[in-house]
Parts: sequence; structure tokens; C-alpha cells
Amino acid sequence: MISPLERATELCRMDMERVDACIHENLQSDIMMIPAIGHYIVNSGGKRLRPLLSLLIARLFDYSGDRHIPLSVVVEFIHTASLLHDDVVDSSDQRRGSPSANGVWGNQASVLVGDYLFSRAFQMMVADGDMAMLKLMSDVTNALAEGEVLQLSRTFHMEMTEAECLEVIERKTAVLFKAATEVGAHVSGESADVVADLADYGMCLGVAFQLMDDALDYLAEAEEAGKPVGHDLEEGKITLPLIHAMQRDAELRKRVEDIAERGCYEDGDREWVRERVTAQDGAGYAMQRARDYAERAKLRLPENSNSEIRLLLGELADFSAHRPF
Ligand code: FPP
Ligand code: MG
Ligand code: MG
Repeated sequence: MISPLERATELCRMDMERVDACIHENLQSDIMMIPAIGHYIVNSGGKRLRPLLSLLIARLFDYSGDRHIPLSVVVEFIHTASLLHDDVVDSSDQRRGSPSANGVWGNQASVLVGDYLFSRAFQMMVADGDMAMLKLMSDVTNALAEGEVLQLSRTFHMEMTEAECLEVIERKTAVLFKAATEVGAHVSGESADVVADLADYGMCLGVAFQLMDDALDYLAEAEEAGKPVGHDLEEGKITLPLIHAMQRDAELRKRVEDIAERGCYEDGDREWVRERVTAQDGAGYAMQRARDYAERAKLRLPENSNSEIRLLLGELADFSAHRPF
């Protein structure tokens, strides 16, 4: 059976082709390392979920202009820049089943090409010429950077609560989904209330998406996930599956405290922690919370809009909270 993501991609095929063309056009530079790394990362099997959301929402309101194409690329470029930086920050040498850009070209090149993409996104917004859009994206990227710094400052933070964990998720991940959906509603000329509802839909879908990612770090095998698993705690990230399990298992909490003191895993830590988190159904709890957020997202979709697209957006929210393997 084909997934809602595949159906949405097919439905927006012509617009998605324009998005791809716009991506490639904006990766041109006579500094060869820029298109080389840019193409490597944008073609590395990402789902283009964020641009797709912008396109679908423009379609939800029968938008007939062109602005959604470059503006959805703006969101994708900011996302891609953040991934280039993220794999450096997280010392991660794998992404989407392949070596990460920093694994191939090194940290310096990854950071600098990330900067290129980030600044390119702002050039594209200036070309679009809408101060409201610049405000939206500058606020979003600021929140994104704050979210990452907040997460860093909570490295191995044993007192991390569910609320703090959700705050990090909203800022580091969900804001870009919010930006994507807000773009679609904004270019369509919808009222401030409707734009806010769609922004909330994006935010909730984004939280669901990251909660699933956090659950899979404890559930999936590396081959399935296309990146290292059991890695979050090693990086000092106290995510929801672990918070849930530590509240119920004092021995697990003690072992995590020891890991935090050492700042790294010793032989057997990864497997032991994964087993204990699984025994408390930590990942199951995070997935349940993801489903709650998907339900909240669906409630924000406006009644008086294209019903076929509304249904599909609802299915995409569910899909973000569903276990892919
Ligand atoms: C993936 O999370 C990374 C993010 C959601 C955002 C990363 C953002 C930055 C590094 C800030 C960059 C800022 C600008 C303005 C370019 P993860 O590490 O939990 O997930 P992963 O498993 O996909 O690596
Ligand atoms: Mg990472
Ligand atoms: Mg990270």
C-alpha cells in the first residue's frame, strides 16, 4: 500500500519538480565544493517533507501564484543547513544510510557549506520581498539555534523533565515544520487566525515526528534507521523514552548517572540501557505521546478548505507518528 507521503508527493508532482529545479538553481556557485556538498546532502534520500507541506497547504487554499516554490526551498535550505551543522555538533558520521557530509568532506567544509545554504535562504527571502516572511523565518531560525543551545546546556541533565524535553523538541525540530505550514497559509493570503491554526498543525506534526525519532533511537536497528542508534544517550541527550524509564527503574537511573559522570559509554552500556528502557516501554510511551500530538495537529485543519487535501494532511500527521519499520 502506498503511504500518504507517497500520495502527497505524487499529487504535488509538478510543483515538486519546480521545487527540485529551484533547489538546483540555487546551489550553483563557481566554488565547486558548494554544489558538490549541496547536491550530496539534498539528494541523500530526504523525503522533502517540509516543502511538501508548504505545497499541500497552498493547495488546500487553492493558491494559484508562484511564491510557495522558492519559499518552500527556503525552508528546505534552512533544514539542510541545520543538518550539516548538526552532524558536526553530534559527531555523527552517518545520515540516511550513507556517510554524512562531514564524514566525506570533514567538519570545516560541512559547517561552511551549511552557512552558505543558510545565507542563500535569506537572499531568496529578500528576493521574495515580504517583510512578514523575513520576520517569520528569522524568528524560526533563531528559535532553532536556541533549541540546539538549550539541548547542549541540558547534556546529561539528570533532572530533565518531560516538559523540558518537549520544549527542546519544539524549538530544535518542530519550528521548521511550523515554518513550512505557515508559508503555505501565508502566501495564500489567509487570515491571521487561519495562519496560526496551520502553524500549530505544523508545530504538532513536528513534535510527533521528533518524538518518533527519539523512540526509534531505542527501538530500531541501525540498518533500519540509516544512522547510528542507541546514540542519543551517548551524546548526553536525555530524551522522553529514557525519562519515562528512569522514573520507573532506579537501577537504570543510577547507571545513567554513572555514564553521565564518565561522559561516555563503557562496554555493554548501550545494550544494557536499551534493554532496561525497553522493559519499561519507554519508546512505546514516546510513541503514544507522538500519536497525541498527531491528533492535536488534525484538530487545527480548517473545515472550509479542500476536503481531499485536508484528509491527506490528517493522514500525514498520523504518518509522522507511526513506526516506519
Ligand atoms: C536533528 O536533531 C537536528 C535538528 C533538528 C536541528 C539542528 C540545528 C542546528 C545544529 C542549528 C543550526 C542552525 C542554523 C541557523 C543553521 P537530532 O540530532 O536529534 O537528530 P538526528 O538523529 O537526525 O541527527
Ligand atoms: Mg544529530
Ligand atoms: Mg542534534
